[in-house]
Amino acid sequence: MNITLRQLKVFSSVARNHSFTRAAEELCLTQPAVSMQVKQLEHQLDVSLFEQLGKKIYLTEAGEEVFHYSRQIYSQLDEMETVLNNLKGLGRGRLRISVASTANYFIPNLLGIFSQRFPGVVISLDVTNRETLLKQLAENETDLVIMGQPPEGVDLEAGIFMENPLVIVAPPDHPLANEKNIPLKKLEDEVFLVREQGSGTRSSTERFFEQHNIHMTTGMEAGSNEAIKQGVQAKLGLGLLSQDTIEMELTLGRLTILDVAEFPILRHWYVMHREGKRLSVVAQAFKDFLLTEVSELEGKRHTPSAA
Ligand code: PGA
Repeated sequence: MNITLRQLKVFSSVARNHSFTRAAEELCLTQPAVSMQVKQLEHQLDVSLFEQLGKKIYLTEAGEEVFHYSRQIYSQLDEMETVLNNLKGLGRGRLRISVASTANYFIPNLLGIFSQRFPGVVISLDVTNRETLLKQLAENETDLVIMGQPPEGVDLEAGIFMENPLVIVAPPDHPLANEKNIPLKKLEDEVFLVREQGSGTRSSTERFFEQHNIHMTTGMEAGSNEAIKQGVQAKLGLGLLSQDTIEMELTLGRLTILDVAEFPILRHWYVMHREGKRLSVVAQAFKDFLLTEVSELEGKRHTPSAA
């Protein structure tokens, strides 16, 4: 076999973008140049990598396999670069971090503090859903992942650095807004706006209601915390959200947290990576920053009963 890294790079870009045109744009090449590289790769491997159905292109089974291995090869090359940078004592480079969408409400702030200490570091932040995070962990595609609950069945090193209380939010003039210690059963009369399937917030709230034998009526499903907040303000129903997402609305008096018995649901934020992964100096420093400084600050912010 005589394939080149360049062929793999071009192929991966087409596979990721599901398009020869977009791959050409991404790589600053012409489309014929992209097609040529893919053709040569197919020739070397003696398989078809893509198939065209209508206007769309899809990976063949062989294409999926090649895509899988090319991701691993690039992740190994990144790791090699990191190890060499560490050997050279640079302590700089790139921090690749992938976070669940809800973590986007606090992570940029923490990255800001961190990057003041490492001004030479280039940060690449991917905000995505839990399913993609699990894939990135499995494929070792990122330095660190931040999400609400480490997945089972993957060998990981995961540490808690912050609390993630889930609360029920309502418009300030909601009939339950001034009630204290609202019984859970009363929630069966309400309609809820919930996050999409695959969201960590969604699965923990469903688990919680199931454990407490409460039937939850779903009025709207939305793929973002912002859409839920807007829906609650528009009186479409109550929202189930991480408290981290509503700081501004609480301050501006646009939303309120209902005082419901058994709430908040106590969750945590974890920082994690594959077990045995060789972290760069920068990734290790960011992990340490979360697990020591941030976790200490958070300990002071929350009440002992919420620990
Ligand atoms: P989200 O939260 O997936 O609901 O954004 C992250 C998590 O809880 O893992």
